[in-house]
Amino acid sequence: MNPFNYIDNHLTVDGVSVSEIATAVGTPVYIYSKAFFQARLVEFETAFADIPHLLCYSVKTCANLSLLKLSAENGFGADIVSGGELFKAIKAGLSPCRIVFSGVGKTASEMAEALRADILMFNVESAEELETLAQVAGNLNLRAKVALRVNPDVDPQTHPYIATGLKASKFGISHDEAITLYKQAAANPHLKVIGIDCHIGSQLTSVTPFVAAAEKLRDLAIELQSAGLNLRYLDMGGGLGIRYNNEIIPAVSEYAAVLKPLLKSLPGLTLILEPGRRIAGPSGALLVKVLYNKRNGSKNFVVTDGAMNDLIRPSLYGSYHRILPVLRTGASKNVVDVVGPVCESGDFLARERLLPAVKAGDLLAVLEAGAYGYSMSSNYNARLRAAEVLVENGFFRVIKSRESYEDLTRGEYI
Ligand code: LLP
Repeated sequence: MNPFNYIDNHLTVDGVSVSEIATAVGTPVYIYSKAFFQARLVEFETAFADIPHLLCYSVKTCANLSLLKLSAENGFGADIVSGGELFKAIKAGLSPCRIVFSGVGKTASEMAEALRADILMFNVESAEELETLAQVAGNLNLRAKVALRVNPDVDPQTHPYIATGLKASKFGISHDEAITLYKQAAANPHLKVIGIDCHIGSQLTSVTPFVAAAEKLRDLAIELQSAGLNLRYLDMGGGLGIRYNNEIIPAVSEYAAVLKPLLKSLPGLTLILEPGRRIAGPSGALLVKVLYNKRNGSKNFVVTDGAMNDLIRPSLYGSYHRILPVLRTGASKNVVDVVGPVCESGDFLARERLLPAVKAGDLLAVLEAGAYGYSMSSNYNARLRAAEVLVENGFFRVIKSRESYEDLTRGEYI
Protein backbone atom coordinates (compact mmCIF):
# COMPACT_ATOMS: atom_id res chain seq x y z
CA MET A 1 0.00 0.00 0.00
CA ASN A 2 2.70 2.49 1.03
CA PRO A 3 4.95 3.70 -1.81
CA PHE A 4 8.03 3.59 0.44
CA ASN A 5 9.22 -0.01 0.80
CA TYR A 6 12.44 -1.90 1.39
CA ILE A 7 13.98 -3.98 -1.37
CA ASP A 8 17.02 -5.95 -0.14
CA ASN A 9 17.13 -3.67 2.93
CA HIS A 10 17.34 -0.50 0.80
CA LEU A 11 14.43 1.90 0.99
CA THR A 12 12.78 2.45 -2.38
CA VAL A 13 9.89 4.49 -3.66
CA ASP A 14 7.93 2.65 -6.31
CA GLY A 15 11.04 0.58 -6.91
CA VAL A 16 13.40 3.59 -7.26
CA SER A 17 16.31 3.70 -4.81
CA VAL A 18 15.91 6.52 -2.31
CA SER A 19 19.69 6.78 -1.82
CA GLU A 20 20.15 7.29 -5.57
CA ILE A 21 17.81 10.25 -5.35
CA ALA A 22 19.84 11.64 -2.44
CA THR A 23 23.08 11.22 -4.38
CA ALA A 24 21.68 12.99 -7.43
CA VAL A 25 19.65 15.75 -5.77
CA GLY A 26 21.09 16.09 -2.27
CA THR A 27 19.24 16.41 1.03
CA PRO A 28 16.93 17.51 2.48
CA VAL A 29 14.58 16.56 -0.32
CA TYR A 30 10.86 15.85 -0.56
CA ILE A 31 10.08 12.75 -2.61
CA TYR A 32 6.58 12.03 -3.95
CA SER A 33 5.18 8.95 -5.66
CA LYS A 34 3.16 9.92 -8.70
CA ALA A 35 1.46 6.53 -8.85
CA PHE A 36 0.39 6.67 -5.22
CA PHE A 37 -0.85 10.25 -5.45
CA GLN A 38 -2.82 9.40 -8.58
CA ALA A 39 -4.28 6.26 -7.02
CA ARG A 40 -5.61 8.38 -4.16
CA LEU A 41 -7.27 10.77 -6.64
CA VAL A 42 -8.87 7.82 -8.39
CA GLU A 43 -9.95 6.33 -5.06
CA PHE A 44 -11.98 9.48 -4.30
CA GLU A 45 -13.40 9.67 -7.82
CA THR A 46 -14.47 6.04 -7.69
CA ALA A 47 -16.06 6.33 -4.25
CA PHE A 48 -18.31 9.21 -5.36
CA ALA A 49 -18.78 8.20 -9.01
CA ASP A 50 -22.46 7.33 -8.61
CA ILE A 51 -23.60 10.73 -7.36
CA PRO A 52 -23.19 14.24 -8.82
CA HIS A 53 -19.89 15.41 -7.34
CA LEU A 54 -16.91 17.69 -7.80
CA LEU A 55 -13.65 16.92 -6.04
CA CYS A 56 -11.48 19.95 -5.38
CA TYR A 57 -7.89 19.16 -4.36
CA SER A 58 -6.93 21.39 -1.47
CA VAL A 59 -4.00 23.31 -2.93
CA LYS A 60 -2.52 24.35 0.43
CA THR A 61 -1.71 20.73 1.20
CA CYS A 62 1.05 20.44 -1.37
CA ALA A 63 1.03 23.00 -4.13
CA ASN A 64 3.72 21.85 -6.54
CA LEU A 65 2.63 22.52 -10.13
CA SER A 66 3.30 18.91 -11.16
CA LEU A 67 0.92 17.62 -8.50
CA LEU A 68 -1.71 20.24 -9.30
CA LYS A 69 -1.51 19.25 -12.95
CA LEU A 70 -1.90 15.60 -12.02
CA SER A 71 -5.03 16.50 -10.04
CA ALA A 72 -6.44 18.40 -13.02
CA GLU A 73 -5.70 15.47 -15.35
CA ASN A 74 -7.69 13.24 -13.03
CA GLY A 75 -10.77 15.43 -13.16
CA PHE A 76 -10.16 17.34 -9.96
CA GLY A 77 -10.89 20.98 -9.39
CA ALA A 78 -9.17 22.99 -6.67
CA ASP A 79 -9.89 24.44 -3.25
CA ILE A 80 -7.87 27.64 -2.91
CA VAL A 81 -7.39 30.12 -0.07
CA SER A 82 -5.34 32.91 -1.67
CA GLY A 83 -4.55 34.75 -4.86
CA GLY A 84 -1.26 32.87 -4.95
CA GLU A 85 -3.06 29.54 -4.92
CA LEU A 86 -5.38 30.78 -7.69
CA PHE A 87 -2.33 31.74 -9.74
CA LYS A 88 -0.68 28.36 -9.22
CA ALA A 89 -3.87 26.38 -9.88
CA ILE A 90 -4.53 28.16 -13.17
CA LYS A 91 -0.86 27.89 -14.18
CA ALA A 92 -1.04 24.13 -13.59
CA GLY A 93 -4.04 23.84 -15.90
CA LEU A 94 -6.86 23.61 -13.38
CA SER A 95 -10.04 24.94 -14.87
CA PRO A 96 -11.37 28.03 -12.99
CA CYS A 97 -14.90 26.70 -13.35
CA ARG A 98 -13.82 23.93 -10.96
CA ILE A 99 -12.21 26.20 -8.36
CA VAL A 100 -13.73 27.12 -4.98
CA PHE A 101 -12.24 29.91 -2.88
CA SER A 102 -12.33 29.54 0.93
CA GLY A 103 -10.74 31.48 3.79
CA VAL A 104 -11.69 34.15 6.34
CA GLY A 105 -9.50 36.92 4.95
CA LYS A 106 -9.88 37.22 1.20
CA THR A 107 -8.70 40.66 0.10
CA ALA A 108 -10.55 42.81 -2.43
CA SER A 109 -7.77 42.31 -4.97
CA GLU A 110 -7.85 38.53 -4.51
CA MET A 111 -11.61 38.64 -5.00
CA ALA A 112 -11.17 40.66 -8.20
CA GLU A 113 -8.62 38.17 -9.54
CA ALA A 114 -10.95 35.27 -8.84
CA LEU A 115 -13.95 37.08 -10.32
CA ARG A 116 -12.05 37.88 -13.52
CA ALA A 117 -10.97 34.23 -13.72
CA ASP A 118 -14.65 33.29 -13.29
CA ILE A 119 -14.15 30.68 -10.57
CA LEU A 120 -16.98 28.36 -9.62
CA MET A 121 -17.72 29.68 -6.12
CA PHE A 122 -16.62 31.90 -3.25
CA ASN A 123 -17.10 30.28 0.15
CA VAL A 124 -17.90 33.42 2.12
CA GLU A 125 -17.08 33.48 5.83
CA SER A 126 -18.58 36.71 7.24
CA ALA A 127 -21.09 39.52 6.68
CA GLU A 128 -18.33 42.04 5.97
CA GLU A 129 -16.69 39.72 3.46
CA LEU A 130 -20.02 39.28 1.68
CA GLU A 131 -20.41 43.04 1.46
CA THR A 132 -16.89 43.52 0.08
CA LEU A 133 -17.40 40.75 -2.45
CA ALA A 134 -20.62 42.36 -3.71
CA GLN A 135 -18.84 45.71 -4.03
CA VAL A 136 -15.87 44.24 -5.90
CA ALA A 137 -18.18 42.31 -8.23
CA GLY A 138 -20.27 45.45 -8.78
CA ASN A 139 -17.19 47.50 -9.67
CA LEU A 140 -16.23 44.88 -12.23
CA ASN A 141 -19.81 44.62 -13.45
CA LEU A 142 -19.75 40.92 -12.62
CA ARG A 143 -21.80 38.64 -10.44
CA ALA A 144 -20.02 36.59 -7.79
CA LYS A 145 -21.24 33.05 -7.30
CA VAL A 146 -21.36 32.38 -3.58
CA ALA A 147 -21.85 29.81 -0.89
CA LEU A 148 -21.81 30.71 2.77
CA ARG A 149 -19.41 28.74 4.91
CA VAL A 150 -21.57 27.64 7.78
CA ASN A 151 -20.02 26.84 11.13
CA PRO A 152 -21.98 23.77 12.23
CA ASP A 153 -20.54 23.77 15.76
CA VAL A 154 -19.38 20.18 15.58
CA ASP A 155 -16.31 18.90 17.40
CA PRO A 156 -14.02 17.23 14.87
CA GLN A 157 -11.92 15.67 17.67
CA THR A 158 -8.62 16.69 16.20
CA HIS A 159 -5.70 18.95 17.18
CA PRO A 160 -7.15 22.31 18.37
CA TYR A 161 -5.08 24.25 15.81
CA ILE A 162 -6.77 22.45 12.92
CA ALA A 163 -10.30 22.17 14.34
CA THR A 164 -12.41 24.72 12.45
CA GLY A 165 -16.04 23.71 12.93
CA LEU A 166 -16.55 24.77 16.54
CA LYS A 167 -18.46 27.95 17.20
CA ALA A 168 -15.53 29.56 19.03
CA SER A 169 -13.28 29.22 15.98
CA LYS A 170 -12.71 32.07 13.53
CA PHE A 171 -14.23 30.08 10.66
CA GLY A 172 -17.66 30.14 9.15
CA ILE A 173 -20.98 31.76 10.00
CA SER A 174 -23.47 30.58 12.62
CA HIS A 175 -26.71 28.96 11.52
CA ASP A 176 -28.88 31.95 12.46
CA GLU A 177 -26.64 34.56 10.89
CA ALA A 178 -26.36 32.41 7.77
CA ILE A 179 -30.13 32.58 7.20
CA THR A 180 -30.08 36.40 7.38
CA LEU A 181 -27.02 36.64 5.12
CA TYR A 182 -28.43 34.18 2.58
CA LYS A 183 -31.49 36.42 2.23
CA GLN A 184 -29.30 39.51 1.81
CA ALA A 185 -27.11 37.75 -0.74
CA ALA A 186 -30.11 36.53 -2.72
CA ALA A 187 -31.38 40.10 -2.97
CA ASN A 188 -28.06 41.54 -4.14
CA PRO A 189 -27.73 41.89 -7.94
CA HIS A 190 -23.96 41.35 -7.79
CA LEU A 191 -24.20 38.06 -5.92
CA LYS A 192 -25.61 34.76 -7.03
CA VAL A 193 -26.23 32.23 -4.27
CA ILE A 194 -25.36 28.77 -5.53
CA GLY A 195 -24.18 26.75 -2.57
CA ILE A 196 -23.69 25.96 1.07
CA ASP A 197 -20.32 25.06 2.54
CA CYS A 198 -18.51 23.89 5.66
CA HIS A 199 -15.11 22.56 6.64
CA ILE A 200 -14.98 21.32 10.21
CA GLY A 201 -11.31 20.46 10.57
CA SER A 202 -8.42 18.37 9.38
CA GLN A 203 -6.98 14.95 10.25
CA LEU A 204 -10.35 13.52 11.33
CA THR A 205 -10.10 9.87 12.25
CA SER A 206 -13.83 9.20 12.50
CA VAL A 207 -16.69 9.81 10.08
CA THR A 208 -19.12 10.69 12.91
CA PRO A 209 -18.35 14.46 12.97
CA PHE A 210 -18.70 14.61 9.17
CA VAL A 211 -22.16 13.07 9.47
CA ALA A 212 -23.16 15.49 12.25
CA ALA A 213 -22.02 18.46 10.14
CA ALA A 214 -23.63 17.13 6.95
CA GLU A 215 -26.96 16.65 8.73
CA LYS A 216 -26.89 20.25 9.96
CA LEU A 217 -26.04 21.52 6.46
CA ARG A 218 -28.72 19.35 4.90
CA ASP A 219 -31.37 20.73 7.26
CA LEU A 220 -30.25 24.28 6.57
CA ALA A 221 -30.20 23.63 2.81
CA ILE A 222 -33.78 22.33 2.95
CA GLU A 223 -34.81 25.43 4.93
CA LEU A 224 -33.14 27.72 2.39
CA GLN A 225 -34.62 25.87 -0.56
CA SER A 226 -38.08 26.18 0.88
CA ALA A 227 -37.42 29.91 1.29
CA GLY A 228 -36.90 29.99 -2.49
CA LEU A 229 -33.10 29.83 -2.81
CA ASN A 230 -31.74 27.83 -5.69
CA LEU A 231 -28.83 25.91 -4.16
CA ARG A 232 -26.75 23.79 -6.53
CA TYR A 233 -23.74 22.77 -4.44
CA LEU A 234 -23.21 21.28 -0.99
CA ASP A 235 -19.51 21.64 -0.12
CA MET A 236 -18.41 19.50 2.82
CA GLY A 237 -14.76 20.68 2.76
CA GLY A 238 -11.85 18.33 3.39
CA GLY A 239 -10.52 16.73 6.52
CA LEU A 240 -10.34 12.96 6.12
CA GLY A 241 -7.36 11.81 8.17
CA ILE A 242 -4.43 9.50 7.50
CA ARG A 243 -2.47 7.05 9.57
CA TYR A 244 0.70 8.65 10.95
CA ASN A 245 1.28 6.32 13.88
CA ASN A 246 -1.37 3.93 15.11
CA GLU A 247 -4.55 5.84 14.26
CA ILE A 248 -7.39 3.77 12.90
CA ILE A 249 -8.73 5.71 9.97
CA PRO A 250 -11.92 5.30 7.95
CA ALA A 251 -11.67 4.11 4.35
CA VAL A 252 -12.63 6.60 1.64
CA SER A 253 -15.45 4.20 0.76
CA GLU A 254 -16.78 4.43 4.33
CA TYR A 255 -16.65 8.25 4.19
CA ALA A 256 -18.54 8.10 0.88
CA ALA A 257 -21.06 5.61 2.28
CA VAL A 258 -22.08 7.98 5.08
CA LEU A 259 -22.15 11.16 3.01
CA LYS A 260 -23.96 9.91 -0.08
CA PRO A 261 -27.33 9.08 1.55
CA LEU A 262 -27.52 12.62 2.90
CA LEU A 263 -27.41 13.97 -0.63
CA LYS A 264 -30.36 11.82 -1.62
CA SER A 265 -32.59 14.08 0.47
CA LEU A 266 -31.27 17.03 -1.52
CA PRO A 267 -32.07 16.25 -5.15
CA GLY A 268 -30.39 18.52 -7.68
CA LEU A 269 -27.39 19.28 -5.47
CA THR A 270 -23.82 18.42 -6.43
CA LEU A 271 -21.53 17.36 -3.60
CA ILE A 272 -18.20 19.18 -3.43
CA LEU A 273 -15.32 17.80 -1.35
CA GLU A 274 -11.95 19.41 -0.73
CA PRO A 275 -9.57 16.59 0.21
CA GLY A 276 -5.90 17.33 0.68
CA ARG A 277 -4.00 15.34 3.30
CA ARG A 278 -5.58 12.01 2.37
CA ILE A 279 -4.17 12.37 -1.15
CA ALA A 280 -0.81 14.04 -0.61
CA GLY A 281 0.19 12.93 2.90
CA PRO A 282 1.19 9.30 2.38
CA SER A 283 2.43 10.04 -1.16
CA GLY A 284 5.47 11.94 0.09
CA ALA A 285 8.45 11.64 2.41
CA LEU A 286 11.16 14.02 3.53
CA LEU A 287 14.61 12.59 3.11
CA VAL A 288 17.28 13.92 5.45
CA LYS A 289 20.93 13.08 6.13
CA VAL A 290 22.48 12.43 9.53
CA LEU A 291 25.12 15.02 10.40
CA TYR A 292 26.07 14.06 13.94
CA ASN A 293 25.21 11.95 16.94
CA LYS A 294 25.50 13.67 20.28
CA ARG A 295 24.60 13.05 23.88
CA ASN A 296 23.61 15.71 26.44
CA GLY A 297 22.96 14.51 29.93
CA SER A 298 20.84 11.43 29.59
CA LYS A 299 19.54 12.31 26.12
CA ASN A 300 20.70 11.07 22.74
CA PHE A 301 20.35 13.33 19.76
CA VAL A 302 20.60 12.54 16.08
CA VAL A 303 21.28 15.82 14.30
CA THR A 304 20.13 15.82 10.68
CA ASP A 305 20.29 18.33 7.85
CA GLY A 306 16.48 18.52 7.86
CA ALA A 307 14.83 20.83 10.38
CA MET A 308 11.64 22.50 11.52
CA ASN A 309 11.87 24.92 8.60
CA ASP A 310 11.57 21.91 6.27
CA LEU A 311 8.83 20.08 8.20
CA ILE A 312 7.21 22.10 10.96
CA ARG A 313 4.42 19.65 11.88
CA PRO A 314 6.28 17.96 14.81
CA SER A 315 7.28 21.33 16.30
CA LEU A 316 3.95 23.06 15.73
CA TYR A 317 1.44 20.34 16.55
CA GLY A 318 3.58 17.73 18.30
CA SER A 319 2.83 15.51 15.30
CA TYR A 320 4.23 12.04 14.93
CA HIS A 321 5.94 11.09 11.66
CA ARG A 322 7.41 7.65 11.15
CA ILE A 323 11.15 7.70 10.48
CA LEU A 324 12.88 4.90 8.60
CA PRO A 325 16.58 4.38 7.96
CA VAL A 326 17.19 4.27 4.21
CA LEU A 327 19.62 1.39 4.72
CA ARG A 328 18.21 -1.29 7.02
CA THR A 329 21.24 -2.69 8.84
CA GLY A 330 19.83 -4.52 11.83
CA ALA A 331 21.86 -2.19 14.09
CA SER A 332 20.85 -2.08 17.75
CA LYS A 333 18.17 0.46 18.63
CA ASN A 334 18.43 3.55 20.83
CA VAL A 335 15.91 6.08 22.04
CA VAL A 336 16.80 9.38 20.39
CA ASP A 337 15.50 12.82 19.54
CA VAL A 338 15.88 13.50 15.83
CA VAL A 339 16.66 17.19 15.56
CA GLY A 340 17.71 19.75 12.98
CA PRO A 341 20.27 22.57 12.90
CA VAL A 342 17.76 25.36 13.68
CA CYS A 343 18.50 27.39 16.81
CA GLU A 344 15.47 26.43 18.86
CA SER A 345 14.88 23.56 21.24
CA GLY A 346 11.51 23.24 19.50
CA ASP A 347 13.34 22.13 16.36
CA PHE A 348 12.79 18.40 16.19
CA LEU A 349 11.45 15.85 13.74
CA ALA A 350 10.88 13.20 16.41
CA ARG A 351 11.22 12.92 20.16
CA GLU A 352 12.02 9.91 22.31
CA ARG A 353 12.00 7.66 19.27
CA LEU A 354 13.39 4.14 19.19
CA LEU A 355 15.60 4.08 16.09
CA PRO A 356 18.41 1.83 14.87
CA ALA A 357 21.83 3.37 15.53
CA VAL A 358 22.89 5.69 12.71
CA LYS A 359 26.12 7.46 11.85
CA ALA A 360 27.04 10.64 10.00
CA GLY A 361 26.11 10.36 6.33
CA ASP A 362 23.27 7.89 6.86
CA LEU A 363 19.93 8.78 5.34
CA LEU A 364 16.59 8.87 7.15
CA ALA A 365 13.17 9.06 5.54
CA VAL A 366 10.47 10.97 7.42
CA LEU A 367 7.23 9.43 6.17
CA GLU A 368 3.71 10.76 5.57
CA ALA A 369 5.26 14.15 4.92
CA GLY A 370 3.61 14.89 1.56
CA ALA A 371 0.82 16.99 3.10
CA TYR A 372 1.64 20.26 4.87
CA GLY A 373 5.34 19.46 4.57
CA TYR A 374 6.89 21.46 1.77
CA SER A 375 3.91 23.81 1.68
CA MET A 376 4.60 24.96 5.27
CA SER A 377 8.37 25.14 4.87
CA SER A 378 10.24 28.40 5.33
CA ASN A 379 13.61 30.08 5.12
CA TYR A 380 13.99 30.39 8.89
CA ASN A 381 17.65 30.62 9.90
CA ALA A 382 18.32 31.57 6.25
CA ARG A 383 18.04 27.92 5.35
CA LEU A 384 17.38 27.03 1.75
CA ARG A 385 14.08 25.41 1.02
CA ALA A 386 14.48 21.75 0.02
CA ALA A 387 14.17 20.31 -3.47
CA GLU A 388 11.08 18.32 -4.51
CA VAL A 389 11.31 15.15 -6.60
CA LEU A 390 8.58 13.15 -8.33
CA VAL A 391 9.02 9.43 -8.91
CA GLU A 392 7.24 8.19 -12.00
CA ASN A 393 7.43 4.91 -13.92
CA GLY A 394 10.75 3.84 -12.40
CA PHE A 395 12.40 7.26 -12.87
CA PHE A 396 12.66 10.41 -10.83
CA ARG A 397 12.80 14.05 -11.74
CA VAL A 398 13.17 17.29 -9.89
CA ILE A 399 9.85 19.15 -9.79
CA LYS A 400 11.23 21.99 -7.69
CA SER A 401 14.88 22.95 -7.48
CA ARG A 402 16.56 23.39 -4.17
CA GLU A 403 16.78 27.10 -3.40
CA SER A 404 20.06 28.95 -3.83
CA TYR A 405 21.66 31.69 -1.73
CA GLU A 406 20.54 34.15 -4.43
CA ASP A 407 16.93 33.08 -3.74
CA LEU A 408 17.45 34.13 -0.12
CA THR A 409 18.11 37.77 -0.99
CA ARG A 410 15.78 38.15 -3.97
CA GLY A 411 13.76 41.33 -3.56
CA GLU A 412 15.84 42.62 -0.63
CA TYR A 413 17.58 45.98 -0.77
CA ILE A 414 20.32 47.65 1.22
N1 LLP B 1 -10.78 22.89 2.80
C1 LLP B 1 -10.51 23.89 3.65
C2 LLP B 1 -11.39 25.06 3.67
C3 LLP B 1 -9.42 23.79 4.52
O1 LLP B 1 -9.16 24.80 5.36
C4 LLP B 1 -8.60 22.64 4.48
C5 LLP B 1 -7.45 22.52 5.37
C6 LLP B 1 -8.91 21.63 3.56
C7 LLP B 1 -10.01 21.77 2.74
C8 LLP B 1 -8.09 20.38 3.43
O2 LLP B 1 -8.15 19.58 4.57
P1 LLP B 1 -7.49 18.13 4.58
O3 LLP B 1 -8.30 17.24 3.67
O4 LLP B 1 -6.09 18.25 4.10
O5 LLP B 1 -7.59 17.72 6.00
N2 LLP B 1 -1.24 22.35 8.58
C9 LLP B 1 -2.12 21.40 9.25
C10 LLP B 1 -3.41 21.20 8.52
C11 LLP B 1 -4.16 22.48 8.25
C12 LLP B 1 -5.44 22.27 7.51
C13 LLP B 1 -5.96 23.55 7.01
N3 LLP B 1 -7.14 23.43 6.22
C14 LLP B 1 -1.36 20.09 9.45
O6 LLP B 1 -0.19 20.01 9.08
O7 LLP B 1 -1.89 19.15 10.02
